[in-house]
Amino acid sequence: MNKVGIIGWPVTHSISPAMHNAAYAALGLTDWSYELAPVPPDIVGKGLRILRDEGGFIGVNVTVPLKEAVMPHVRPDERARAIGAVNTIDFRNGSGTNTDVIGFIDDLRAHDVSVPGATVMVLGAGGAARAAVYGLAKAGARVIVVNRTMQKAQVMLADLALSAGIFTGVEVKTLDEAVEMSPSLVVNCTSVGMWPKVDESPWIEGIPLPAGIVVYDMVYRPEVTRLMQQAEAAGGRAIGGLGMLVRQGAAAFTLWTGREAPVEVMLTAGREALAARL
Ligand code: ATR
Repeated sequence: MNKVGIIGWPVTHSISPAMHNAAYAALGLTDWSYELAPVPPDIVGKGLRILRDEGGFIGVNVTVPLKEAVMPHVRPDERARAIGAVNTIDFRNGSGTNTDVIGFIDDLRAHDVSVPGATVMVLGAGGAARAAVYGLAKAGARVIVVNRTMQKAQVMLADLALSAGIFTGVEVKTLDEAVEMSPSLVVNCTSVGMWPKVDESPWIEGIPLPAGIVVYDMVYRPEVTRLMQQAEAAGGRAIGGLGMLVRQGAAAFTLWTGREAPVEVMLTAGREALAARL
């Protein structure tokens, strides 16, 4: 049996087992299984060794709060080092990568959102924002970061400059200033609007959303967030974060199995698993 899974603390609400196991079933990969593996943050190194040596795991996905903590225990690739977080580990060679970036950029492409040369506003300065800024900058966008705590955004950019050589095309602004720069895409990388606080939005009341805006909300629970409703009410277009979640999983699927992932199957399974949790 080829065993993979997801580590985190807690991991009970992850929809990844549903997505991956549906993909194995669809492709007839009956000797693959994807399991939940709760690992407390204070014993992450030991947890990884146990899963590899005693559990027989081939690899694992990594979710909160362990994405940074696993870094010293694997060989992170350039992308994971730049972002400072690993979400996929392959025990066969000890490597760690970050497929969140791939998931995000692939999902933008799947929705025909063009990034090269675009002015993109990123809301947030945590781990999710870091992945977004890295992916967008590498894809040739001009990125404007807006964050409640402006200093945290400055630190994020300084980090990305040092770790990924991203020195130009990325700046920190207030929301007012950023709107003045006429972005064509706004990406919410904050947790604001996430279930159960579904009535909240990271967009400050009173500032109109730019006309014709595309809003990408990394939040996937609920599937339609308050911010997405605001974008649509302003005549814009809204894309939720489920596609990104599915596509980061699809990239991990391919890494482990060497097979192309059945993205639509994973999307349906992910959506059903989410619905079952509400
Ligand atoms: P993640 O790793 O998932 O990105 P994180 O590191 O906790 O999570 O980052 C959460 C982001 O959401 C931060 O940018 C945070 O803003 P601060 O840097 O000011 O803390 C943002 N955020 C969380 N709650 C918020 C709120 N109520 N209003 C505005 N921003 C919020």
